[in-house]
Amino acid sequence: MIQTFSDGYLLSTKSTSYAIFIAENGKAVSAYYGPKIPAQLPSLLASCPSNVGPVAPGSFCSEERQACEFSLPLRGDYHIPSIILETEDSSVFDFRFQKGEIRVPNALCDLPTPHGASEELVLTFVCQFLGIVMELHYLVFEESDVIARNVVIRNHTEKELHIQKAMSYQLAFANHDDILLSNYGSWAHEAIREEIPLPHARVSFGSINGWTSNRHNSFFAVKEKSTSKTDGNIYGFHLLWSGNYEISIERDSFDMLRIQGGIDSTLFDKALKKGESFETPWGILAYSAKGEQGLSLLFQHFVKEHILPPLAREKTQPIVYNNFDATGFTFDENKIHSLMDKASDLGIETFVLDDGWFEGRKDDRHALGDWIEDKKRLPHGLKGLADYSASRGMSFGIWMEPEMVCEDSHLYQEHPDWIVRDPSLTPYQAHGEWTLDLRKKEVQDDVIATIERVLSVSNATFLKWDCNRALSDAPLTTKNGSFYYDYIVGLYRVLGHIRKNHPNLWMEACASGGNRFDLGVLSYFTSCWLSDDTDFYERSLIQSSLSLGYPISAFSNHVTLHRSNIMHRYGTLDSRYDVAFFGLLGYELDFDKLTTQEYQTIKEQIRDYKQQRHLIKDGDFYLIEAFDPSNDSTFEVTNGKEAVVSKLIRLINPTPAERRLRLKGLEEGALYSYRNRQERPTEEGKENEALLSEIDEGEAYGASFLSIGVPLAKQWNADSATGKEAYLSDFSGRLYFLKKKE
Ligand code: DGJ
Repeated sequence: MIQTFSDGYLLSTKSTSYAIFIAENGKAVSAYYGPKIPAQLPSLLASCPSNVGPVAPGSFCSEERQACEFSLPLRGDYHIPSIILETEDSSVFDFRFQKGEIRVPNALCDLPTPHGASEELVLTFVCQFLGIVMELHYLVFEESDVIARNVVIRNHTEKELHIQKAMSYQLAFANHDDILLSNYGSWAHEAIREEIPLPHARVSFGSINGWTSNRHNSFFAVKEKSTSKTDGNIYGFHLLWSGNYEISIERDSFDMLRIQGGIDSTLFDKALKKGESFETPWGILAYSAKGEQGLSLLFQHFVKEHILPPLAREKTQPIVYNNFDATGFTFDENKIHSLMDKASDLGIETFVLDDGWFEGRKDDRHALGDWIEDKKRLPHGLKGLADYSASRGMSFGIWMEPEMVCEDSHLYQEHPDWIVRDPSLTPYQAHGEWTLDLRKKEVQDDVIATIERVLSVSNATFLKWDCNRALSDAPLTTKNGSFYYDYIVGLYRVLGHIRKNHPNLWMEACASGGNRFDLGVLSYFTSCWLSDDTDFYERSLIQSSLSLGYPISAFSNHVTLHRSNIMHRYGTLDSRYDVAFFGLLGYELDFDKLTTQEYQTIKEQIRDYKQQRHLIKDGDFYLIEAFDPSNDSTFEVTNGKEAVVSKLIRLINPTPAERRLRLKGLEEGALYSYRNRQERPTEEGKENEALLSEIDEGEAYGASFLSIGVPLAKQWNADSATGKEAYLSDFSGRLYFLKKKE
C-alpha cells in the first residue's frame, strides 16, 4: 500500500514500512525502512534518522546531513553522489520535488520489470534547467515484503544532457555496527561468502567486464553485528541487471550509511538529446527482522512469484542429462544414441546436447557463429537425435553460445563489422572467440533468427545458453559512452523475443559457470548453471551462499564423476547427489562407463528425486548450517508436511559429536516419521554391496525437531558397538525424508 502524507509518502508491505520524507529544501529523504509502523503517523519526520532534520533555508552545506534518496555533487553534499549529470555549460544541478503520483505500474521499456506489483509511486523532481526532469519510481510488493526502485531521467531541453552516473537506488540509515555480507569469487570458485564490518570509509564493488560476473554477485546484504541466522535486522539488495554494475556503501563520520547500487559509472556516459529519456534497471530492496533465514525466505518467494518466467512457476522442470563432462567435443551419433538409451532407462526426462554439434567445432576455439549441424558426426542431424530421444521417451535440448563468433566462421567472414571492436585495434580473442555487437539491431535480428532456426530444426524444448568470454575492446567514446548498457539492452531484446515466442522453452543460463547469475537473467531464464565446479564441498558452499538471495529452484545442479575435472577430490555418487538434490537435478557423466552398482545408484537417485521434487519447486529452503567454519552443513526444504534434509560432513573425527536433526518450518504439535536414504558409498570403479549404509528411522514431534533436535545414528568410531552406526567418510552425507503423520 502507498499512502500520501502532508510531508511525504509511506510504502507499506505485509511486515515492513518504507517512508520518504520530502524536506523543506525539496529533497527526498530516506525517513525510515524497517518493521511495519502504523499508518496513522502525524508526520513522517518523526521517523527520520535522528541526525536528519529539516534543513534551515540558506544554511551552508545543508544536504551533507540529509539521508537523501538521490544525491548530486557540487551542492554541498560530500558523500559519493548517486547521480552525475553534465551539459555543455554546467555540471551543477539542483533537483527539487515537484509532485508525487500513485499509479498502476508501468513496465520499463527496454529492461526487465518484476511482475505483479499492485501500485507504483512516481516522485518527480525538476532542476534549474526547466525541462530536465528526474523521476524516482517505487514498486510495492506487499506479500513479498519487497520494494523495487529505479530512476528515470528525461531531457526536454535543447541542450544535450550527459548522464555520467545514475544509480537505481540510494538508501540511507543509521549504522548499528553493520556488516556487509557479499559473495566474491572466480571461475570454478563462485559465490564465496564474505562478511566485513563496515569501516568509516567507502566500500565498493561491482563489475566492468560486461557481465555481472563471478568476481562479485550483485546481490548483497547489510546486517547488524548482533543479527543471527534467525533474528535481527538485515537488509538485502538485488539489481535486475546482467551487465556492469556498481555497489557503494559509505559510512560517514556521523555513523550514517549510504547504500547505492546501479549500473557501473566508470565506463558510462549516456547522452540524451531533446525528447529522450533514460531508465535505470530496477533495484530490489528488502528488509527482514528475522535474520538471514528471514531474508532468504523473503527472496525465495519474491523471485519465484515476481521474477522467474511463468513456466518456472507453473511447471516442473525435467531432469536433464548433459553430455559435456562425458564426451567433451568428441562424440558421434552412436555415442549419443548409447547415452540416450541409458539416460532414458535411468529416468532422465530431457537429453541436452552440449557444445560440439556443429560443423568445424573440434574444440572450444573454433566455428562459433554458423550453427550448421555437423552431418559427419551426426548423419541424421539434430532432428535425428531429437527423434531418437523422443523414441526413448525423452525430450531434447540443445547448447548454444549465441553472443559469440569465431574467426573461422562464415558469419565473421561476411560481417567482420558485427564484432565488438574499436577500429584502432585488433580486438582480443578470448576462448578463441569475439563478441557480437548486440547493440546493433541487425545483429540482434540475426541472432534471433539463428536461435529460431536451431530450435525449429532440433525440436528442442530446452536451451542451454552459454557465454564464455568477458567483453573487451568496447568502442567507448564520450559520444558513445553507453556501450555496456546498450549491449545488455540488446541482449534483453533478443531474450525477450525468444521468451515470448517460446513460453514453454526451458532455458538454462550459463556463462563459463556462474559468471552471469542475477535477477536480470532470471527474468528470462528458468534456471542457471551456478558453476563448472561440481565437487561436493565446493558446490555445497556455492549453493549455501546463493541461497540467501535466490530460490534453489533456479539452481541447475548436476551429479558428475567421482572425481570432477576441476577438483580431483574423490566423492561418492551419493554424496554428490546429496548436494545436487537441492536444486534442479541433472547428470553429466559417462553412463557407458558405470559399474552395475553405480548404474543402480543413479536409477534410485532419480526415482527418489521424482517423488520429492515438488518441494524444490514450491517448498521453503532453510540453510540450517553451512560449511566454513562449521564442519557440518545442513540443507532443509519443506512445506511443513514433508521435508527433505541433507546432512553433510566435511571431515570425520575420532571423537564424533552427537548428530541431531534440528530443523525449521515444521508444525510443533505434529508427529513426523523420518528415514534416511540408504546410500551406497560407492568405491571408484569397484563393486562392494557390503558398503550399503545404515537405515536410520523413527518418529518425533515437530517440537523436538524445532528445539533440541532429534538424535541420529552415531558416526562410527573405534568405540562404537551397537551395529547401527553411520559409516560416514570425509566429504559425505545423508539425506533424510520426513513426513507428517495424519
Ligand atoms: C562452459 C560451460 O560452463 C560448460 O558447462 C560447457 O557448456 C562448456 N562451456 C562448453 O563449451
